[in-house]
Amino acid sequence: MRIDIITVLPELLQSPFEASILKRAIDKGLVAVHTHNLRDFSTNRYRQIDDYQFGGGAGMVMMVEPIDKCITMLKSEREYDEIIYMTPDGDTLSQGIANELSLKENIIILCGHYKGVDQRVRDHFITREISIGDFVLSGGELAAAVLCDAVIRLLPGVLGNETSALTDSFQDNLLAPPIYTRPADYKGWKVPEILTSGNTPKIEQWRETEALKRTQQRRPDLLE
Ligand code: ADE
Repeated sequence: MRIDIITVLPELLQSPFEASILKRAIDKGLVAVHTHNLRDFSTNRYRQIDDYQFGGGAGMVMMVEPIDKCITMLKSEREYDEIIYMTPDGDTLSQGIANELSLKENIIILCGHYKGVDQRVRDHFITREISIGDFVLSGGELAAAVLCDAVIRLLPGVLGNETSALTDSFQDNLLAPPIYTRPADYKGWKVPEILTSGNTPKIEQWRETEALKRTQQRRPDLLE
């Protein structure tokens, strides 16, 4: 998979890809992540990429031309399955969307700033708009990093234990059950006995019951 991220703040998109699972996925060649500084596509000697909005009002708008130039350059090099715009008014990111995107070959992610992008960018280039939740960030970069993390960890070979993404919360519309590790008794706080019984079918049954209980208590909407 290849991910091209268009941003005015490439610095914000460095460290998430330089540590842990995402770094390993990149080092293994399972994904390539490229960031593109939108200012490099400005046609103006001040490297300007935003301007005042027509009709007046506070806040700058990201101009169509630099974005067009960047996307057109990328599209001349390969075909893209999706051109995603990170925006608080997009579809809320879910495990289902992450699963779907993990099957794509090449995607572009455009990070918004200021008031957002000129509507013509959305009308003519963007194939999908994604929000990471009902709150407003100062830019789309951190949202893009969240999306990349959710997608990349699903790529085959990224997680050590191949089954572990399958048992995540949300993969079957259930939250994950409680988990424990050694010691079995810490200050008298004991691990449920069933988990140390070695009875695998019983343990599986217990986990299913606990997952259902937790979902009923915390996220009954997932069961509807
Ligand atoms: N840009 C600003 N806020 C955002 C959000 N909640 N999700 C995605 N992109 C954003």
